[in-house]
This record gives sequence, structure tokens and C-alpha cells, in this order.
Amino acid sequence: MAKLIVANWKMNPESVAAAEKLAKATDTASLVICPPFLFLSNVGRILQKARLGAQDVFWQNSGAFTGEISPLQLKDLSVEYVIVGHSERRQYLGETDYMVAQKLSAVLGAGLTPILCVGETKKQRDSGEQFKIITEQLNIGLSLLTKNLCASKSIIIAYEPVWAIGTGLTDDPDSTLKIISFMKRELLKLNQSCSYHFIYGGSVTSQNVESFLRHQEIEGVLVGGASLNPAELGTIIKIAERYS
Ligand code: PGA
Repeated sequence: MAKLIVANWKMNPESVAAAEKLAKATDTASLVICPPFLFLSNVGRILQKARLGAQDVFWQNSGAFTGEISPLQLKDLSVEYVIVGHSERRQYLGETDYMVAQKLSAVLGAGLTPILCVGETKKQRDSGEQFKIITEQLNIGLSLLTKNLCASKSIIIAYEPVWAIGTGLTDDPDSTLKIISFMKRELLKLNQSCSYHFIYGGSVTSQNVESFLRHQEIEGVLVGGASLNPAELGTIIKIAERYS
């Protein structure tokens, strides 16, 4: 499988014009671009090669949920991927593992591919709780999946240690590999028929991306800050192509 690069623009850039410019400058195959909701439509019209992703979703398809965006609305804009459970949403918006579970099954139900983010904080890592936290995030986050929902569908799991996001610190790729094989074992226990792919996120740059992507088990990267810089993202994509 080609390595997957997910560009998470977060709450950037500040205008439609700037979003369109960035989309034009970074439109590349094997890239999923996740702009803010309100740029999805314009960015979607520009993309020829990259696919469109959303940064979040609500778990109902329609109804009285002020301010929310549904999986069907995303699908209507040609969105194919949806990030769920990003640590910034868990931290600033109080998203719980159960909310993440609802979002995840709604995304699969609409025929979209979820990118489920998991990862521990610095405190949890230091106190040896890393594996416990990730087990919890997986067990609850995936608890609403059924055989039907999973049938011939993929879920992308992004391992994103919270302490590495936007800090310039990255995980040691060997430790990421350990987490991935741990997650694979945990997922086997859940006895579900979804197929899983594993990517890494947290301060990915053109300087460190190769140390992750040279491992077959790390199937891609989720890029935040560096995805706003077309030259930097271009280099990341070139490196990824060598391993695809
Ligand atoms: P970052 O963000 O690359 O800026 O650390 C990663 C992310 O969105 O999770």
C-alpha cells in the first residue's frame, strides 16, 4: 500500500483565498487534505489528485444539533476521510472515548473512512500508563462497531502521543513500532472484521519523516504544522513515495 499522508490544517488558514492557494500548491496523490469544515467545498473543487478529509463530525445524520456537521453532509461534499478523537478535541472540547465511538460508527455507517487518533499525555507516559490509556481509547472508541459496519471497511489508527503534537518533539520510531504491535494484539481481541492501518502523528517534518516511514508497519503520517508549508509537505511526500 502507498504510504498515506494526512494533512491536518487544524484551524488554518484565515481565509478562503489562502485555503484555495494552499490546496493548489499541495494537491498530490496519496495525500488526504483535512481543511476546516467551511473550506471543504472550495478545497474539494480544486483537488485533482489529493482526497478530501474532515477534522471532525457529529454522530447523527441530521436533526437539532446546533453547530454540528453530519457524516452525510460531509459525504455530499465528496469527503472520504474523517479524523475522529483528535487530542485537541479531547483536550479543549471535552470529547470522551464514548463520543469518539459514536462518531466512528457514524462515519463508517456513511461509508467514509475514519482516522481514529489515540495517544497518551506526557504525564501518562511518565507514569507508565501509556499502554493502559491506549487500550482504553481503543476498547471504548471501537465498542460500537458491528460486523455489518465493518464489512470490507478500513479504519486508520493514528498513534499521536499528545506530548509530541505541535511541540517539535517526536516519538522514537522504535517505541511507535512497539505501540503498533501492541495495538494489533489488542484489536485481535476485539474480534472485529474491520481492517486496520496504522500511521504516526506528532511534529512530523521533512527531517524526521523517513525515520518513521522506512518501517513497513508505519503506513503513513498525520502532519499538522508542516502541512501548511507547501515546500515542506512536498519534501515529506517525496520521501513517502520512496517507501510506497
Ligand atoms: P503537528 O500536528 O504535526 O503540528 O504536531 C499533528 C496533529 O495534528 O496531530
